[in-house]
Amino acid sequence: MAEHPAYPVGLRLAGRRVVVLGGGQVAQRRLPALVAAGADVLLVSPSATPSVEAMADAGEITWERRRYADGDLADTWYALVATSDHAANEAASAEAERSRVWCVRSDDADAATAWTPATGRSEGVTVAVLTAEAKDRDPRRTAAIRDALVEGLRDGSLVAPQHRTRHPGVALVGGGPGDPDLITVRGRRLLAEADVVIADRLGPRDLLDELPPHVEVIDAAKIPYGRFMAQEAINNALIEHAAQGKAVVRLKGGDPYVYGRGMEEVQALADAGIACTVVPGISSSISVPGAAGIPVTHRGVAHEFTVVSGHVAPDDERSLVDWQALARLRGTLVILMGVDKIGRIAEALIAHGKSADTPLALVQEGTTAAQRRVDATLGTVAEAVRTHGVKPPAVIVIGPVAAMNPTTPDRT
Ligand SMILES: C[S@@+](CC[C@H](N)C(=O)[O-])C[C@H]1O[C@@H](n2cnc3c(N)ncnc32)[C@H](O)[C@@H]1O
Repeated sequence: MAEHPAYPVGLRLAGRRVVVLGGGQVAQRRLPALVAAGADVLLVSPSATPSVEAMADAGEITWERRRYADGDLADTWYALVATSDHAANEAASAEAERSRVWCVRSDDADAATAWTPATGRSEGVTVAVLTAEAKDRDPRRTAAIRDALVEGLRDGSLVAPQHRTRHPGVALVGGGPGDPDLITVRGRRLLAEADVVIADRLGPRDLLDELPPHVEVIDAAKIPYGRFMAQEAINNALIEHAAQGKAVVRLKGGDPYVYGRGMEEVQALADAGIACTVVPGISSSISVPGAAGIPVTHRGVAHEFTVVSGHVAPDDERSLVDWQALARLRGTLVILMGVDKIGRIAEALIAHGKSADTPLALVQEGTTAAQRRVDATLGTVAEAVRTHGVKPPAVIVIGPVAAMNPTTPDRT
């Protein structure tokens, strides 16, 4: 048997009897996949690990608390022999051979008639890795190959577009704050499967360089908008490409629904009858302070954080923000789009009672190679922005947590 490569196959075990002999670590590892496959699992074993026992208690498997006996494999489709008793394993495997039951042996791969591959799943695909022959058996290597394949499919570095099940339409993908590692697994995969990508200035721009040449990349800032508003022109571009049956990714910085105008695009697509999915992203409002060593909450220091847009000044009639109420909060204020107006924001907060000594930090271009942090107070921030030439994009953190500045080395 060992001279020939194993023949790979996918067993459809739903409702079919599978016998597992031995309730130890091997059973514990294999049982979840058998249960997930819908197998009718009979475990024969005098004892079991607590997790295996829990599966029996939950009714996911049937457990007979006894040793293997000849005849246990009657009416069985598949057997996993994994007791600590070598003689029992030999006897069960002989019965499997006689009864034509495919049999996995945990103690002797050579004697087995079936091998369990290293398996993993990613979005509807099962990856199963086997070594070709018994002499090549190397579980660590097969597991490593499996991990590389699954990881590659998940993060999109292994480009395998879904030709049969591609979904034309638009995916609004939150790309995270800028570091290409901080996009979600789903976002990265959708990006790898896209025909067209319409990208914002903020977000993981580096990922655009990795896209295959056939992908059309459109800079949202450069969409000509003539008599339309810029947002309307972007909506139209999304609709136009999706209507041609293309898979379109709208790549945004941070999260699509945090000052990302995500809902406007979702509504426009819904009105046009275009399928749309929204993939959340890591918002800069939390991650950028975090990248600079500032937690937005801290036990005993800040029990709340409030994210505020600073794109209009407090005395501007278009402002929807209650700065007076914010000045009363003891926790953390996180201000986005506030660099230009921070002087007037600080004045308003002080005028409404916040101390001019309240710690404040500005984090510019967080999570990118150009990240920098400038520390100040509410009273000194306007001057600090000028002196240090702080430019957007920056997140401004106001409150006691802004005084935190750990010196632990970063291990990334
Ligand atoms: C239009 S808002 C979009 C926010 C985004 N949807 C999010 O969830 O992070 C843009 C603002 O986010 C902040 N921002 C986004 N990425 C940033 C980064 N890498 N570093 C600092 N600030 C950032 C800045 O305040 C910038 O002006």
